Amino acid sequence: MGMAVLSSAKGAVLPCACSGRALALARVLGSGLRGAFATAGGSSSSLLPRRWASSLPQQLEPADRSDEESGGEIDWDNLGFGLTPTDYMYVMRCSLEDCGVFSGGKLSRYGNIELSPSSGVLNYGQGLFEGMKAHRRPDRAGYTLFRPEENARRMQHGAERMCMPAPSVEQFVDAVKQTVLANRRWVPPQGKGALYLRPLLIGSGPILGLAPAPEYTFLIYAAPVGNYFKEGLAPINLVIEDGIHRAMPGGTGGVKTITNYAPVLKPQMDAKSKGFTDVLYLDSVHKRYLEEVSSCNVFVVKGGVVATPATRGTILPGITRKSVIELATDRGYKVEERLVSIDDLMDADEVFCTGTAVVVAPVSTVTYQGQKYDFRTGPDTVSQKLHTALTSIQMGLAEDKKGWTVAID
Ligand code: COI
Repeated sequence: MGMAVLSSAKGAVLPCACSGRALALARVLGSGLRGAFATAGGSSSSLLPRRWASSLPQQLEPADRSDEESGGEIDWDNLGFGLTPTDYMYVMRCSLEDCGVFSGGKLSRYGNIELSPSSGVLNYGQGLFEGMKAHRRPDRAGYTLFRPEENARRMQHGAERMCMPAPSVEQFVDAVKQTVLANRRWVPPQGKGALYLRPLLIGSGPILGLAPAPEYTFLIYAAPVGNYFKEGLAPINLVIEDGIHRAMPGGTGGVKTITNYAPVLKPQMDAKSKGFTDVLYLDSVHKRYLEEVSSCNVFVVKGGVVATPATRGTILPGITRKSVIELATDRGYKVEERLVSIDDLMDADEVFCTGTAVVVAPVSTVTYQGQKYDFRTGPDTVSQKLHTALTSIQMGLAEDKKGWTVAID
């Protein structure tokens, strides 16, 4: 056991006994916190009365996994992407006292959580989220996750940018599995949708001056979902926004922070009020290169070439995006990750979007400066082939030669 020493504002030294791994994490957390306490004049969580720490869901009913097999009255044929509350959520905490190491995670009844009004996430947006899906297996009992380690690693990467400790990959995947099993009656029947998992990592501890929070909460909740867009599987209609930008160089566009999403609500609402499905954003410097859509990545197809904006910090490195690139390459397409201009888009045969929620969504039209551009959709398109290839693996209908799926039994 080593000893991590974290200093507080008043120069007090906060010792905590840590393992080697914890020491490394504590260094990440501690350096942020040292600065925080020095500049913000806050005090450490260990100096806070216990009542000031975020409430754990202990007061909620203890988890006794439901054995029920059905989701009750739910209409599996019309799921959409609305929130259907399920039975259990997973919660795990980590404070400065824990040296940046999460532990003691457990399932609790799904319900509201209590947060300090001065929590880091409420005041300064210190938070990340992930999106994942569990599918029911067609052949036998059990469920399948798609590349959950990738989500865990993306959360770790984002946590570093947002000055937060993160769960280990093993903790993350184990927590997701527990959440799926506890809510198994909510996993839709094969072909009707998936159980959507929403892992959150938030600065739950109280802080007043701008600084990393002294306590963090990792939480996963679940909801059965169908198609993301109201169009269902039908092609969508995008509008290019050239006045509002989603991200900027040096910003946080490349990590899945909660703060990337509220700012796109206004353009998204404006677009919807005009009959568009969603908004396609341009780069904030040249205002001529495609970035991504509010909730997904974008691809353009010309001949046998599939191109998508390269991830250079302003674009979310989507796990579906990465998988589709590999599947397209396997199928003989030339895939280019590069700058994709508006001219490339106008000249494209096909446009499609990718994301966990969205899956692979064909784009029928894109409107730019009042001009509408049409693209190929329907059977025999590249996007259709990639949709089938991807979902067949995710749903267990095709052999997973890539080792992307993780079974939950
Ligand atoms: C997902 O695709 O899982 C996302 O996180 C996007 C979200 C806006 C629904």
